[in-house]
Amino acid sequence: MQNSNTSIESFIVLANPSIQSLTPYAPGKPISELEREYGISNAVKLASNENSLGASPKALAAIKQNLDNIAIYPDGNAFELKSKLAKKHNVTESCITIGNGSNEILELITRAYLAPGLNCIFSEHAFAVYPIVTQACGADAKIAKALAADSDQPYGHDLDEFIKLIDDRTRLIMIANPNNPTGTWIDRAKLKSFLKEVPANIVIVIDEAYFEYVKQADYPDTSTWLNEFPNLLVTRTFSKIYGLAALRIGYGLANEAITDMLNRVRQPFNVNGLAQVAACGALEDQEFVDQSVDLNRIGMAHLTDGLIRMGLHPIASVGNFISVKVGDSGTSVFEKLLPKGIIIRPIDNYQMPGFIRVTVGKNEENSRFLQALSDVI
Ligand SMILES: Cc1ncc(COP(=O)(O)O)c(C=O)c1O
Repeated sequence: MQNSNTSIESFIVLANPSIQSLTPYAPGKPISELEREYGISNAVKLASNENSLGASPKALAAIKQNLDNIAIYPDGNAFELKSKLAKKHNVTESCITIGNGSNEILELITRAYLAPGLNCIFSEHAFAVYPIVTQACGADAKIAKALAADSDQPYGHDLDEFIKLIDDRTRLIMIANPNNPTGTWIDRAKLKSFLKEVPANIVIVIDEAYFEYVKQADYPDTSTWLNEFPNLLVTRTFSKIYGLAALRIGYGLANEAITDMLNRVRQPFNVNGLAQVAACGALEDQEFVDQSVDLNRIGMAHLTDGLIRMGLHPIASVGNFISVKVGDSGTSVFEKLLPKGIIIRPIDNYQMPGFIRVTVGKNEENSRFLQALSDVI
């Protein structure tokens, strides 16, 4: 029976307390929205670390070939894709979880291991999804102080600070390597000695969303450490270098027991069929990956050089994006760039006031951004 005293607002108060106080993820502004709002065309979006080359042609071909199959449910166990990933990473299929983006894997691990009274540790300026998925479970976030602005990895993860925060209620640690939005990274020796120090009953997520872009010799492939560290969950995505962000597909690698727990909270058909075949195609497309790495290297040099010429000090980044302080408010620079048809990301909400993050684009996109930025600051 309808109670006329029940206001719409009371449904906020009725919600789980940790959800009531949750700040939702703020995605990059879509190009179509900007063009509608300002009546412009030809806008450039360098806001969500997508691949400016588009999608792998082999992935596109696979999608076209499978369009007729969308009336049937996808393979809920993603057999073909898991077989390919099992070969690529030299693991068994029982160690692989396919997610609706790697974000879903981050969510599943928190749902499987966190609860009110337990906690998850991540760094200041870490990827914005970590606090959201932690809080959504009613668990506590413990924030490790970041490295100093003048360190060799400015604003990056300080693993000693993580260790200090571990207590007997810690169930999860989340580390992005490289980190978004700082673009900083952790080398093999440091990460390995950290993993050895963390108690074995804490699950450590190493988020490698930008893995394929990193060419530093000391950068670790932690997917090869799963036997040595049974408490490891490594996440990867098809959204970045493979150019499949709109399809939402990523994966996690972990021991069979952790994978079993993720599988218990996963929806039966969480990853759509076109995403699965596209990901299979993309894994065969090393040429596209190589082209994307090349474009990123050239674009990163272009952006870095242009920003330095403006007297700015970008944070050296190993991803496909770069962050830089542009004044007192990144949001106000973001807003001034919009009418010029440029979408970037202010990262004031990452506790980095005055900073913006820019995705590496094609040559002409980078030039348009640099010109527009020099006009507004
Ligand atoms: C560090 C990091 N991890 C994970 C993700 C999630 O990517 P997706 O859910 O598209 O796989 C992103 C996306 O920007 C990211 O930057």
